[in-house]
Amino acid sequence: MDIAVAALLAAVLGWLGVRWLLARSRNEPPCISGWIPWVGAALQFGKAPLEFIEQARLQYGPVFTVYMLGKRYTFVTEEEGCQVFCTSKDADFEQAVQQSVEHAVSVPAEIFYKNRFKLYMMLKGRLSTSNLHLLVGSICAEFQENMRDLGAEGAESLYDTVRQIMFPAVANIMFGKNIFLETENNLKELQEHFQNYDDDFEYATQMPGYFMKKWSKSKKWLLKVFEDVVAYADRTNPPDGDSKTVLQHVLDTLTAKRFGANYGLLLLWAAQANAIPVSFWTLAFILSHPSVYKNVMQEVESVLGKAGKEKVEVSNEDLKKLQFIKWCILESARLRAPGAITKKVMKPIKLHNFVIPAGDILMLSPYWIHRNPKCFPEPEIFKPDRWKETNLEKNAFLDGFVAFGGGSHQCPGRWFAIMEIQVLIALFLYKYECTLMDPLPKESPLHLTGTQQPEGPCRIQYKRRA
Ligand code: HEM
Repeated sequence: MDIAVAALLAAVLGWLGVRWLLARSRNEPPCISGWIPWVGAALQFGKAPLEFIEQARLQYGPVFTVYMLGKRYTFVTEEEGCQVFCTSKDADFEQAVQQSVEHAVSVPAEIFYKNRFKLYMMLKGRLSTSNLHLLVGSICAEFQENMRDLGAEGAESLYDTVRQIMFPAVANIMFGKNIFLETENNLKELQEHFQNYDDDFEYATQMPGYFMKKWSKSKKWLLKVFEDVVAYADRTNPPDGDSKTVLQHVLDTLTAKRFGANYGLLLLWAAQANAIPVSFWTLAFILSHPSVYKNVMQEVESVLGKAGKEKVEVSNEDLKKLQFIKWCILESARLRAPGAITKKVMKPIKLHNFVIPAGDILMLSPYWIHRNPKCFPEPEIFKPDRWKETNLEKNAFLDGFVAFGGGSHQCPGRWFAIMEIQVLIALFLYKYECTLMDPLPKESPLHLTGTQQPEGPCRIQYKRRA
């Protein structure tokens, strides 16, 4: 062996040995650090992150660290870890996500820290259960308008069908009816650029823009559109709170108006990126379980009546009665939950016999937490009835359910999301008789961020009910 190679090997082994001894002496969780300095275990992890987490959990136990690209990510995969993640004052959400937000929409750190909490509280209030009655009627009308474009029958990708119904409707609700058209923007082009942006969002938020050419181009295009949209929303901003759009509330709350377009894009992404896949999975699960489909149809008919009406109105009262659909949504969100949500450890945190050091990124995997049989018996089975146990009237989820995050950082749009998906499912199944043309796809093992994506195609055949 060449002397230089031997020296390099000795240096790498020495470096790994020192890291291992230091970690042991400080009682840190076991660390998977790979053989390549700085890169660490990134290559193995990146091949299939969800599978990597499960293998590591089986090998090293419920708390372990993965060293990748110069950073330490400590995963907590059981109830106690979940509790610590959601409630510890020493784990910070803003510090963990700031850089991703900067990459995603070019909001600098200072502006982000100054505005995040205020915007969070505003959205939480505006989209709370007590305000949703203001939005149900318009979301119902928007969905029906978009369903008209599907025609009397067809065979399409279920994901594309859901997107075609949901994307323009939610854009109109959040930003103002036809605001993109008013500002002479093409909705189809907007949808295409948003799709590019959303498809690569997970990687692009971790890497410099020049590695992600197509994504960066779409981001630039979207930000430009939002300049117009924000200027229009500002000009037409009404004085009365209840008639403002969500974007107008964002603009009123922001301390730095020049970042209005950046926050507009962030809102568009947050409102669509999870709600579309959860709607897709809910329909796919319902249609691939005949007894569930039958129950859903009985519920839909008992609330909306026999099929055949061209225009239906779904009220807030109706939504309370469409309870089984709500259970199907939550059960689908449980089974296809985000691979990980993150916080940054600010002061050492004790968990089991370990000390997780300051500076680590704390990772909680809703996807794997939801597969804990202690919280969810027969976890792999789609069982909407398990949600009978919850008091949804009191806005409680099942213990261990973290598809919307946990603790004080839970998604502020969660009740709005559940409401819109409930309306979409009820209307779509009221209007169309549907059959899945492919088996229920598996989730792709490639994604950590957000609701899981389907691995293969899933087409649907639909025919308008007489
Ligand atoms: C089924 C659909 C949805 C799912 C599964 C979902 C899930 C999540 C999750 C997991 C988080 C991170 C929580 C954490 O890290 O603890 C989050 C944050 C957020 N979500 Fe959602 N979300 C959904 C729909 C929506 C909608 C419709 C909106 C807006 C209209 C929205 C707005 C936000 C915002 C603004 C944040 C950041 C909150 C913060 O600054 O702390 N989400 N969501």
